[in-house]
Amino acid sequence: MKIGVFDSGLGGLVITKAFIEEMPNYDYLYYGDSRHLPYGDKTSGQILSYTLKAMRYMISQDCKIIIIACNTATSIALRYIQQRFLPSEAPDVKVLGVVIPTVEVAAAGGARRIGVAATAATARSHIYREELGKVNPAADVLEIAVPGLVPAIEADDFAKAEKIARECAVSFAGCDNLILGCTHYPLVKHFFRAALRGVKIVSQDELMAGKLKDYLQRHPEIQNCLGTGGSYRFEVSSLNRHAQKVASLLFPEIPICRCGNSGD
Ligand code: DGL
Repeated sequence: MKIGVFDSGLGGLVITKAFIEEMPNYDYLYYGDSRHLPYGDKTSGQILSYTLKAMRYMISQDCKIIIIACNTATSIALRYIQQRFLPSEAPDVKVLGVVIPTVEVAAAGGARRIGVAATAATARSHIYREELGKVNPAADVLEIAVPGLVPAIEADDFAKAEKIARECAVSFAGCDNLILGCTHYPLVKHFFRAALRGVKIVSQDELMAGKLKDYLQRHPEIQNCLGTGGSYRFEVSSLNRHAQKVASLLFPEIPICRCGNSGD
């Protein structure tokens, strides 16, 4: 069986790259719902429905564990998936998100003021404030939506992405840590690091592989089901030239293809 990685587009490929570098022997299926991107400005109902459809598809493709490498889908859909969907439809499958592992890293060391840059849907859900508050109740959490950053990245417009990142960085100047709470943002983390020299930037591509490895070691009932042939399949629901370009920069050897799950 496979490790599945899901995102609304290509951002999750950055996390997949980290997984494969850390644990190359497993079999992976990446699925990006690029047809419905950006999730960040959709309603909660739409995000839940797209994410459930993706889960059904990935489970049908033999995923034993799925990482929702999308903060927006994690914020809106993960709880429902874990509490309602999996028990009735796929009790043997595990679905994990990106928020809790990120909170564990960001709250370590007793940071007092923690910034979160995210999509509008993630910021609106206040999931980071809620989860950081459980670990570090004294922390002051500043969640800010950065609309426009994901579309600029997906459109390959890095000059625009830099401008947006620099403008929003101003709001986080007094923070100890800044969580890049969207899996597209690691692609522009250097802009945030350049603009916020005294702030620790928490980037999910740097933490998720270690967290998954640790999880699998603690859960042999899942780890023992995983294929170890090192086969990688990357799929998106809508393929365009930019998707192919980003994927080929990250994984020159692996083609990305459109999958049959792309209808509405
Ligand atoms: N990659 C998604 C996230 O982590 C956001 C992209 C989108 O808006 O679809 O939140």
